[in-house]
Amino acid sequence: MATTITRECLDAPERPAREVRFSGSLPRILSGVQPSGKLHLGNYFGAIKQHIERQGTAECFFFIADYHALTSLKDAEEKEAGVAAKQKGAVARPAKQILADNVRDVALDYLALGLDPNKVSFFRQSDVPEVCELSWFFSTVFGVAHLQRAHSYKDKIENGLSPNVGLLTYPLLMAADILIYRSHLVPVGRDQEQHLEMTRDIAGAFNAAYGEIFPLPDAVYNEAAVVPGTDGQKMSKSYGNTIEIFAEGKPLEKAVMGVVTDSTPVDQPKNPDTCNAFALYKLFATQAELAELAALYREPLRGSESRAGRAFGYGDAKKMLLGKIDAYFASARERRKQLARDPGYVEEVLTAGAKRARAAAQITLQLVRSAVGMGPRPV
Ligand code: ADP
Ligand code: TRP
Repeated sequence: MATTITRECLDAPERPAREVRFSGSLPRILSGVQPSGKLHLGNYFGAIKQHIERQGTAECFFFIADYHALTSLKDAEEKEAGVAAKQKGAVARPAKQILADNVRDVALDYLALGLDPNKVSFFRQSDVPEVCELSWFFSTVFGVAHLQRAHSYKDKIENGLSPNVGLLTYPLLMAADILIYRSHLVPVGRDQEQHLEMTRDIAGAFNAAYGEIFPLPDAVYNEAAVVPGTDGQKMSKSYGNTIEIFAEGKPLEKAVMGVVTDSTPVDQPKNPDTCNAFALYKLFATQAELAELAALYREPLRGSESRAGRAFGYGDAKKMLLGKIDAYFASARERRKQLARDPGYVEEVLTAGAKRARAAAQITLQLVRSAVGMGPRPV
């Protein structure tokens, strides 16, 4: 039978809750993003947008997963060194600089996009070291074979990354991230589905061994399906096919004009449903604007007077997309520039968020220690 979670249950964590349902109280929402490069439209429409929209509707914890990013940091360093070696005058950053820059970039991006640090506990994962301790507890109740079957582990090996232990135990740390705050809802992209299933399994295994400590969290997926990259595959930092949220001017224009389209001649009807530029435009446009663009695809001579008699081609569609991206992110770009001018601001926000998160984490860890027969830690 599902247990009803009420405000009192959240405040009194010793009350067990196996299946979580809410009745008139705020759920706890948690999500994390790895600081592994410049954030892109896929990250925004797949994850960040819904994180920001949910603030204030729940007790939110959002964090920058820097411990997780360490599992691939040396690969990132090698990749950057490889690129720099081919570009005259380019200097590759050492790993520690890459991590520090990426954390700051992700924090600034979220804040500029509208994350309100007064409504959300926004913090850096490694400022709450208790997650590593909880992940150890989980490692003692969960089988190695389960971890070896994780898609993200298998994919990385197939892509030639040498598997460190951290890559194998990544799902244990991710489960600790979620469960240490006794989170109920976890908004993520579909690619995290298996990690979320593993988190529920890990919570179940721990509860079965030591008593009902953890609610089983539910994933929340955004209906915006996978955002395509400039080459039509899933947009991803690892495929080099991204349109960055905070790119502007020439670099943004280059990325957008580089969106791959088919070779239909400019004056021939084109199919909007199979076009990457159209799929990306859809993310920004109203229904009426979308219908208008679809009509231009199907009848390229429509409105040609306004184009000096020219037919409507893919280049025109890409320019419209560029205009949409510029308009959509204009205020966030300005805000990001302002925030970046204050060198202490990001640290202040992350420190305040970590204090709140850590207090919640310590309560859970105390419950866990006591459940396995360890007393309170001497101070
Ligand atoms: P990347 O593949 O670029 O490394 P991450 O794995 O860091 O992206 O993903 C961060 C968040 O953004 C996750 O919740 C993920 O599901 C979401 N996300 C990433 N790429 C896309 C995409 N192309 N479409 C929709 N969501 C995405
Ligand atoms: N694995 C997630 C990703 O690559 C990042 C992450 C780490 C996370 N811990 C989490 C997401 C906890 C949600 C909840 O995108």
